Amino acid sequence: MPQPDTSKHPALVVETLEAGYEPGLPIVRGACLTVQAGEIVAILGPNGAGKSTLVKAVVGLVPVSSGRTLLFGQDITRLAAHRMVFQGLAFVPQTENVFVNLSIAENLELAAAIVKADRDERLPPVYAMFPDLARQRSLPAGQLSGGQRQMLAVARALITRPRLLVLDEPSAGLSPKLVGLVFDKLREVRASGVTVLLVEQNVKAALALADRAAVLVEGRERLFAPAAELLADERLAALYLGRHTGRQPSGAVH
Ligand SMILES: Nc1ncnc2c1ncn2[C@@H]1O[C@H](COP(=O)(O)OP(=O)(O)O)[C@@H](O)[C@H]1O
Ligand SMILES: [Mg+2]
Repeated sequence: MPQPDTSKHPALVVETLEAGYEPGLPIVRGACLTVQAGEIVAILGPNGAGKSTLVKAVVGLVPVSSGRTLLFGQDITRLAAHRMVFQGLAFVPQTENVFVNLSIAENLELAAAIVKADRDERLPPVYAMFPDLARQRSLPAGQLSGGQRQMLAVARALITRPRLLVLDEPSAGLSPKLVGLVFDKLREVRASGVTVLLVEQNVKAALALADRAAVLVEGRERLFAPAAELLADERLAALYLGRHTGRQPSGAVH
């Protein structure tokens, strides 16, 4: 059967999504986002805003109560998480994103096996993009530094050849220098034709990386604009500081 033409659709559309962990207690409350093919889009916002819950809902890890998500025009709203990869969506969670007892090579081979792909075909281009991982391929992932481990998590995702790569705080716990290296790699990933959606706490670095960014507060985006515009927007700091509700600061702008 011919595949529908997905080339003219945005990579991802999130339409008034409502999602949460318990029925009747939505954490994501009407979030709307569009990620155009080829873009890098960042989701910013204070701690507890629902950023992780939003991306987990998109990738099928948190139940959606209303709204929908479209991946290149295809409705993926209630697709099981393990099927997303076959639709071209890969997710890098914030933690536990590699198998620490397996070697780098085994981590990558497992990712190839999950999508039933030939590892001899899939691993070499990924090793070419991550020469440090290639050099240390026999090393257990648990022995990698935080930055290298994050690189491995991205590499595992790329083995599946996603069209959209979703990452939850890939810079968490990394020094500014390592954040720079991980973000440079994400620029390379985008240059290779993969659309990128990432959650970030590191506002300045994220706005330097992303084309556009959304600021999520209480489960809904309050701003969604080109990164350069957001950098100059005084409402950005106000949202982080909780001034919209008159609450105490709930997160910091780095
Ligand atoms: N597994 C879970 N079960 C129940 N509530 C959760 C769970 N994970 C997060 N939450 C709640 O959802 C809200 C948003 O959390 P989260 O999406 O992690 O925010 P962020 O990523 O923006 O810091 C918080 O109030 C948090 O307590
Ligand atoms: Mg989070």
